[in-house]
Amino acid sequence: MNLFDLKNEIAVVIGGTGALGGVAAEALAGAGAKVVIIGRNAERGQQRVASIQKNGGQALFVAADASDKASLENARDTILKTWGTPSILVNAAGGNSPEGTVSKDHPVEDIRAEDWTSLFKMNLVGGALLPCQIFGKLMCRQGKGSIINFASVSAHIPLSRVVAYSASKAGVLSLTRFLAREWAPCGVRVNSITPGFFPAMQNRSLLFNEDGTPTDRTRSIWEHTAMKRFGKPEELGGVIVFLASQAASSFVTGTDIRVDGGFLSQTI
Ligand SMILES: NC(=O)c1ccc[n+]([C@@H]2O[C@H](COP(=O)([O-])OP(=O)(O)OC[C@H]3O[C@@H](n4cnc5c(N)ncnc54)[C@H](O)[C@@H]3O)[C@@H](O)[C@H]2O)c1
Repeated sequence: MNLFDLKNEIAVVIGGTGALGGVAAEALAGAGAKVVIIGRNAERGQQRVASIQKNGGQALFVAADASDKASLENARDTILKTWGTPSILVNAAGGNSPEGTVSKDHPVEDIRAEDWTSLFKMNLVGGALLPCQIFGKLMCRQGKGSIINFASVSAHIPLSRVVAYSASKAGVLSLTRFLAREWAPCGVRVNSITPGFFPAMQNRSLLFNEDGTPTDRTRSIWEHTAMKRFGKPEELGGVIVFLASQAASSFVTGTDIRVDGGFLSQTI
């Protein structure tokens, strides 16, 4: 038996338009799943669909804003009409904002409640809660499903500067465990993945100077990572497929898998 065979499964990857979500979509399609990419940027979504199809996979892009319930419900209806009920959900939409980030000129005392709230809306509401509610309900009804949320190392120990991001991702860890207990009786597993540091759009300005050289923060990240490097997005694919596959991870729920090169395994 191939433990990692996802043929006959329909996977929804929210934020499949981005770096890590895109890799999750490719990995799931590579294992045989039909993949629906949900995001706001049609051009990037269609590029990912074309790449999956070029590799022999099946993919579809559906535009939606994950923070908007009605928009996600429309996407759900399109998916149901086109392919049927999904059994895999990957929540990879999320990011940070300068307004929610502490700097020399923007101390924590000056972070505005509305900027804090907008990061919570992006990472915890749109990045986890609404998609879990909308697709989790369908999965519960069909009696099977695997949900994979994206946390962050800063959900475990708050990183310097990214105060609102860290708190919102800690919320993702908590929600993941809550839903795991809530939905275990109906056959739906809920886990999270904690990526270490992977250069992407949302963290570019914190990791690289304008001329492309690494920032001081990048140097201290490398120093603190056991493997002394950034992750490569494709290094997340195996864990995504493992958690998605009922055959491979049927007794795994409410947990978090760190793919961080050892970042969280050490201190000074
Ligand atoms: N890159 C890293 O090092 C890293 C580390 C830890 C956690 N993460 C988390 O992984 C996830 C993926 O991040 P990434 O690095 O691929 O970033 P990315 O910016 O490349 O991708 C994020 C994608 O989510 C989309 N998105 C954001 N809000 C959305 C919304 N409301 N509706 C629909 N789409 C929306 C963005 O348009 C983008 O395409 C995020 O939750 C991020 O916080 C990333």
